[in-house]
Amino acid sequence: MPHKVNRRDFVKTGTAGLLAAGAGTGPAFGQAPAVLTSVKPVVISSANGFKYKNGGPRTCVEEAFGRITRGEDVLDALVAGVNIVELDPEDDSVGYGGLPNADGVVQLDSCCMHGPRKRAGGVAAIEGVRTPSLVAKAVLDNTDHHLIVGKGAQDFARNMGFTIEADLNTPKSRKAWLEWKRRIDPEHYLDPIKRDEAGRKVSLQMMREGLLDPGHYWGTINCDGVNAKGEVCGVTTTSGLSFKIPGRVGDSPILGAGLWLDGEVGAAGSTGRGEANLFNLSSHLIVEEMRRGRHPKDAAMEALKRIKANTVEKRLLTDKGLPNFYVTFYVLDRTGRYAGVDLYGTLNGKPRQFAVCTENGPQLLPVESLLGEGLSDTP
Ligand code: GLY
Repeated sequence: MPHKVNRRDFVKTGTAGLLAAGAGTGPAFGQAPAVLTSVKPVVISSANGFKYKNGGPRTCVEEAFGRITRGEDVLDALVAGVNIVELDPEDDSVGYGGLPNADGVVQLDSCCMHGPRKRAGGVAAIEGVRTPSLVAKAVLDNTDHHLIVGKGAQDFARNMGFTIEADLNTPKSRKAWLEWKRRIDPEHYLDPIKRDEAGRKVSLQMMREGLLDPGHYWGTINCDGVNAKGEVCGVTTTSGLSFKIPGRVGDSPILGAGLWLDGEVGAAGSTGRGEANLFNLSSHLIVEEMRRGRHPKDAAMEALKRIKANTVEKRLLTDKGLPNFYVTFYVLDRTGRYAGVDLYGTLNGKPRQFAVCTENGPQLLPVESLLGEGLSDTP
């Protein structure tokens, strides 16, 4: 039997859709969800979904929201939104111009999920395609699989008619990689731990000198949306960790880690340190917490607590014993309640933000944080 709507939550979050009883709390797995008669559509994303336009008139969240309210399929609309960021050479964390791996090769990850159709698709470590989200969507639409990687992903994309390019670096991403490479002692490459430390030290130095954007070290855009019928979809796409070991795959293309949704509950996606989400399967955890009736914000806080508890290695801790990296979650439920939640609320003193588009237009909002003020250095 569906739960009753908690009126306090309903009012607090401003969800003004006309709902049948039960909306706002998830059904137990296998139970019929409440029927939603009208939800106010929402699109939520990482802050880059509010920034980049690739020379066009709209940002990711505006584009996706417009398409959703015109009746387009929610996932098609979200993918069209993130395509803007993937194609924009100025965003060095996603698609074309994303920061390359340690060998200077841009390797991209993406996955997407469709709530009503209960389908998912993803690609990892794909080279030569500017829009990995569209290849992930092609996996969802055209195969029985959920993840295709490396050369197989590129071959699949070629067979699906995608253009394969020799190099997705832009002058900006190549310049950053060359500088990073120049500063690294190549002999560290032989020892993965020393190489990791050296890479991190050089990256921090380059951030302090303004040569790398600290907010983009882990890169990524996640974008989730819900339409008036309560249909939920999501997509995550990234160039992954900057200067990663070739072949390293983060959370973004992994179902349950960088994206998870259940069409009868809601969606959660992430940016930030992918290893933390892989270890904790955070997005899946968040959706299951929402299924138990929790608000998107509280559900995401639960995942952040899990990440904090499971981060024990000294190299990953500040001198206060707290995680020395960022992880941000973008969460919405099928009634249109949403939240942007992060371990820390600021980066170098500036508020961390997420993007949202509703009937009131696009906005950047501050994240809610588990640990308060942020780090002065990242990653
Ligand atoms: N969250 C992006 C990555 O870790 O690759």
